Amino acid sequence: MPKVTYFSGETFPLEMHKVRIIQKLTLLPVEERLRAVEESGYNTFLLQNKDVFLDMLTDSGVNAMSDRQQAAMLLADDAYAGSATFYRLQDKLTELFGKKYFLPAHQGRAAEHILCKAYVKPGDIVPCNYHFTTWKAHVVELGGRVVELLKPEGLEVTSTNPFKGNFDTAALEALVAKEGADKIPYVRMEAGTNLIGGQPFSLANLKEVSATCHKHGIKLVLDASLLADNLHFIKTREAEYADASIADIALEIAATSDIIYFSARKLGFGRGGGIVTDDEELYKQMRGFVPMYEGFLTYGGMSVREMEAITVGLDETLDEDMITQGPQFIEHMVKTLDAAGVPVITPPGGLGAHVDAMRFLDHIPQSQYPAAALNSAIFIASGVRGMERGTMSEQREPDGTEIAADMELVRLAVPRRVFTLSQVNYAIDRVMWLHANRRIVGGLTWVEEPEILRFFYGRLAPIGDWHHELVAKFRADFGDSL
Ligand code: F0G
Repeated sequence: MPKVTYFSGETFPLEMHKVRIIQKLTLLPVEERLRAVEESGYNTFLLQNKDVFLDMLTDSGVNAMSDRQQAAMLLADDAYAGSATFYRLQDKLTELFGKKYFLPAHQGRAAEHILCKAYVKPGDIVPCNYHFTTWKAHVVELGGRVVELLKPEGLEVTSTNPFKGNFDTAALEALVAKEGADKIPYVRMEAGTNLIGGQPFSLANLKEVSATCHKHGIKLVLDASLLADNLHFIKTREAEYADASIADIALEIAATSDIIYFSARKLGFGRGGGIVTDDEELYKQMRGFVPMYEGFLTYGGMSVREMEAITVGLDETLDEDMITQGPQFIEHMVKTLDAAGVPVITPPGGLGAHVDAMRFLDHIPQSQYPAAALNSAIFIASGVRGMERGTMSEQREPDGTEIAADMELVRLAVPRRVFTLSQVNYAIDRVMWLHANRRIVGGLTWVEEPEILRFFYGRLAPIGDWHHELVAKFRADFGDSL
């Protein structure tokens, strides 16, 4: 809806909110951007935010709050136990998902921790449409194995398939026949599938997954962290739901699943997380882990102020104007880059625009981390901080073997309600410049490689002198411009 046709006939997204609090930004000169990249070991997680112009690392915990959220924070009820704030959040979750039990956790991975502690045993197999890093780390740590049963077309980078996050139920049937349902503690479906480009599942597919799981007595767990985008895509891409309200679609999604967990750093424009279920037995199986790892049952490690903000933020998630802004900016980025010949994941997904480093830097082998190299190069070219989502984000096998990622992506996240269209257009422009100069960019090699979640804090260095060449070309092309 907030997309208008201009006099020229072109259509552009239009922000349906105005900015009432601002934060000043700095755009460092290109030489300083290179210095910052070098200091951060070519890992954008290690950049200091003061050196960043547009922070497109993630949408996690950095979405803009509304006036209503800020106002609600003042009403927070400070109590260790039985806070009224907790019950307001629980009621909102019940309204959104139709499930009565809520276990709070300080963020999404804490919910994953509880879910894995409660259900994953050594030798277990946990199927999913696609893994997410933190969830997989928990499964593996507990001796389980993650199996991705994404429909193969989900991995096609360039596609017109509207639901690339769909799950292959025939493959699940085959897995159950081979391994037995008792080895499968649950199946995990991720809304707005993060690591393959924020791609949604269809509600029809989710219902099919639910029926298959339940036929075999297997629980279905929904990761609803990126649900807002998936709701938008079901409404706009799945004909059957074109006239359904966002609230009704959310309830239908929730009805398929036994357990839903979420990162409220994404869903609900706040910072927190939790698990909901309608099943008292499941609730009790997980409940003990909340006071053990998170905090008492009525706050779970979250601040009451954030909980109030999340309650209002979940309400805003049901407002189409509020949830369409992100996907429409992303669509604008993807379509503009695609039209300019820059390889990007299509169709546009949620979360951010995903640049395909495998094609962008087809001269760099996966062993030299093309997505990480492109990510650093984008920062040097623009001051825009993206995130590597490729081989660097994988974990080596226990024997040290490197796992080459299915895709080598740089994610330029679009935190909700944060950037203006001119900032997005600047990011697009600098990526286009870099594409025109892509042969300059070379690979990276480890300087310091941690064993666990290495992408968060590992350090790399460029192979060769491409970083200096890139700065020289920037100066030659842009003169004194930042
Ligand atoms: N599930 C999904 C689909 C996620 O995208 C994330 C986080 C989590 C779970 C974990 O939640 O961060 O609150 O602990 N994704 C962030 C990102 C880190 O940048 O994509 P968390």
